[in-house]
Amino acid sequence: MASKPGHTLFTAAAADKYDRYVGRYSPALARSLVSLAGIGAGVAGIRALDVGCGPGALTAQLAALLGAQNVSAVDPSPSFVAACRARNPDVDVRDAPAEVLPFDDGTFDHVLSQLVLNFMTDAPAGASEMARVARPGGRLTSTVWDYRGEMTMLRAFWESVAATDPAGAERDERLTMKWCTPDELHQLWSDAGLKDVAVSPIVVTADYSGFEDLWDPFDPGIGPVGAYMGPLTVEHRKVLKEDFRRRLDVGDEPFQLTARAWAVTGLAR
Ligand SMILES: C[S@@+](CC[C@H](N)C(=O)[O-])C[C@H]1O[C@@H](n2cnc3c(N)ncnc32)[C@H](O)[C@@H]1O
Repeated sequence: MASKPGHTLFTAAAADKYDRYVGRYSPALARSLVSLAGIGAGVAGIRALDVGCGPGALTAQLAALLGAQNVSAVDPSPSFVAACRARNPDVDVRDAPAEVLPFDDGTFDHVLSQLVLNFMTDAPAGASEMARVARPGGRLTSTVWDYRGEMTMLRAFWESVAATDPAGAERDERLTMKWCTPDELHQLWSDAGLKDVAVSPIVVTADYSGFEDLWDPFDPGIGPVGAYMGPLTVEHRKVLKEDFRRRLDVGDEPFQLTARAWAVTGLAR
């Protein structure tokens, strides 16, 4: 679980800044996630819910495949709810947390979440709610970053924090994020009462025009990184930025970074 309630970490986040931060990976991750869930176009009346939709990258993929009228989305961050609505005008987007979903039992064929489990105040409660609103036999599919492994950008950032600010260690997402490994995710889904649980990796890449393009959205107001950056002095930010750039071994030329996520899927009873 994040050290502060997850929705408070994104309240100041402008959607376009988020798009250039972790959101840069979101469309590709969403494509892989819906494919893993077995969601395709052409089957009429399949209903899906995107939990913790953010500005709506996964919502958009679901709407394109299933029709906007068959898709609902929730998020407790008002700025993201507004952005998701604006980008997906015919989707039912609501302001709500995973732990208290505003839907009847058995409403959806698919319930998904992308990069959200670690931001929930109570992930087991969120998983149980996701299972409740799925119909029996409906599928729950979620993904989280491999924070301690191959999410290159975030791992390198927190390595730089550890190298430049030992006191910052307690903010390190590699430690604070509780649901990061295949075993942890398998357990979470099994404890929510799901069957046929399986975990697999998804690897995506993001393109950057240069290091400044990557660094620009590392701003107060966006996620745990932003919460950490907020109180830093200008000098400290400079030292951190330089260590991060060296660690990634990139400069002003275009480059790509890869990121691995773990995806868990299972069926509601
Ligand atoms: C890293 S963003 C992921 C956004 C989007 N799903 C994506 O893939 O780009 C995490 C999201 O979780 C949301 N969130 C925080 N706490 C939550 C909770 N308790 N229930 C549902 N979503 C939550 C945040 O508001 C934010 O939109």
